[in-house]
Amino acid sequence: RERTRPSRLERPVFLAMFGGVFEHSPWVAERAFDRGLGPANDTADGLAAALATAFRLASPDERRRVVEAHPDLAGRLALGGGLTAESAGEQRSAGLDQLTEDELARFTVLNERYRTRFGFPFVVAVRGLAKHDILAQFERRVENDPAAELETASREVEKIARLRIHQILGDRP
Ligand code: GUN
Repeated sequence: RERTRPSRLERPVFLAMFGGVFEHSPWVAERAFDRGLGPANDTADGLAAALATAFRLASPDERRRVVEAHPDLAGRLALGGGLTAESAGEQRSAGLDQLTEDELARFTVLNERYRTRFGFPFVVAVRGLAKHDILAQFERRVENDPAAELETASREVEKIARLRIHQILGDRP
């Protein structure tokens, strides 16, 4: 089929396609578009870089709010079916909708510990990871220094966005 060239899309179409790439934060796609997208941003990785730039140019508070907009992995929202389609698909791809009782209990304890320590949810690009990798990373990161951990979470947010863009444009990451 015809290749989508993001830089040629009308603003509302662009926002309908890419506004959800940063969870509950359409302003990232708005700012990227309004800064001007050139042909260099017509590949998935080029577009991901343009959106990541808009994200990095935002204030620390704005970036923190993007991290905070993510639902817990295997959390109450996920169990209750309240996720965005993107998040539900990612959590499913990692088998987080098929946890044993013990695994679910580990996630619940870790979610609580992590949020209490950092004040934001544990965010990791889960697509392509197995649940034991996610749990191992969770147990490691919950010990991190808070400033470093916000940086790690921000990089994961950018990685999630990149994977979502590849998915939307229908090519491989
Ligand atoms: N990694 C990929 N998607 C998500 C999500 O929706 N929430 C969290 N916490 N991590 C993710």
